[in-house]
Amino acid sequence: MSRFALEFKQVSKDYGAGPVLENFNLTIEKERLVTLIGPSGCGKTTLLKMINRLIEPDQGQILWEGNEISKLDPVELRRSIGYVIQQIGLFPHMTIEENISIVPRLKGESKQKLVSRTEELLELIGLDPAKFRKRYPHELSGGQQQRIGVARALAANPSVILMDEPFSALDPISRVQLQKELIHLNRHVKKTIVFVTHDIDEALKIADDLILLKNGQIVQAGSPEELLKHPADAFVREFLGSERFAPEVSPQPHSAPSLIHLMEASGSIDSHRYVSEALQQLHASQASELLVTDANNKVVGIVGRDELGQRPGLSESGRLKVAEVMRPPGPSVQDHSPIAKLLDLLQEYPIVPVVDDNERLLGTITRQSCIKAFEQLNERKETAV
Ligand SMILES: Nc1ncnc2c1ncn2[C@@H]1O[C@H](COP(=O)(O)OP(=O)(O)O)[C@@H](O)[C@H]1O
Ligand SMILES: [Mg+2]
Repeated sequence: MSRFALEFKQVSKDYGAGPVLENFNLTIEKERLVTLIGPSGCGKTTLLKMINRLIEPDQGQILWEGNEISKLDPVELRRSIGYVIQQIGLFPHMTIEENISIVPRLKGESKQKLVSRTEELLELIGLDPAKFRKRYPHELSGGQQQRIGVARALAANPSVILMDEPFSALDPISRVQLQKELIHLNRHVKKTIVFVTHDIDEALKIADDLILLKNGQIVQAGSPEELLKHPADAFVREFLGSERFAPEVSPQPHSAPSLIHLMEASGSIDSHRYVSEALQQLHASQASELLVTDANNKVVGIVGRDELGQRPGLSESGRLKVAEVMRPPGPSVQDHSPIAKLLDLLQEYPIVPVVDDNERLLGTITRQSCIKAFEQLNERKETAV
């Protein structure tokens, strides 16, 4: 068994008007949410469609869990890989339940199993099964239809899900909601998700790993923090900077500024991860503490070097789960909390969680992230005048 979910090896593609990809190499680890991001036409969709063999490369290999996909039956392969696109294409004359269960039904699962699986999936994507099961696609909003698309992609229990700008056509509010749910989903179902977008804010918000592409080549790959902290060149800096702190709506004169602009996407770890993984993450992020979240993305604890590092025999303690060593978390703020409250908390706590109305974690704020965000806001103001 390969430790990688997907590998591109020396892949080249030319549609006839010059190479789109040339000797392209990429490895994607299991259970990560990876975003492919880059300007329009840089080859994102081509890469994605090669994974489920909607497009064949001219040269090179693509491996799925160590197996060369060109040797697999394309129909089987597509059933094992979820695929969500912008125009989701639900079948108009089939109910939501029928739409979601197409692939499991093709696989010959029992009626009873189909019903219970649909219910489970509808709940997972935040739609009440009793209300939605028997509805038809036209009776749903655009955001709800995209959710059904996600549920359908999950129905066959694929190990990999491909998503090509799945939320691009949605209004900003549904879009942010679906981004949040996707993060939650990824933690909950442990799938490898390859997510294509040209929206840097979206990528920074959801990605474990970011792959920034230009003209079919990787310009930089790393965590959102790595790219923000150490952009490889001017292209990356410009790309990251473009919309980074642009408010989604123009601020009202008296409305409180949203703390979302101060927050970082990472800084948290699932309570079921190993202590060794937490140590690695802590080291990579150069943070002093990590928030610990449960399957519902609620903050349940906090760990720092004290909890993770002081245990004798690292190799053994590395196999402990984070849940076993964490201590209770400090207070959290909401995105619309007053900034004075945040600054007070930062005096006392090195890391402050930002949570939504359901107490789910949206992101983390540290003194450093705060300073960085203020600096960048100032830079933008200066260049704007
Ligand atoms: N079926 C096709 N036939 C010819 N050219 C194509 C086809 N699909 C994509 N291309 C070209 O390949 C390049 C990469 O396209 P694509 O992978 O769709 O980029 P992205 O998804 O990043 O916008 C573009 O120049 C596009 O015009
Ligand atoms: Mg595309």
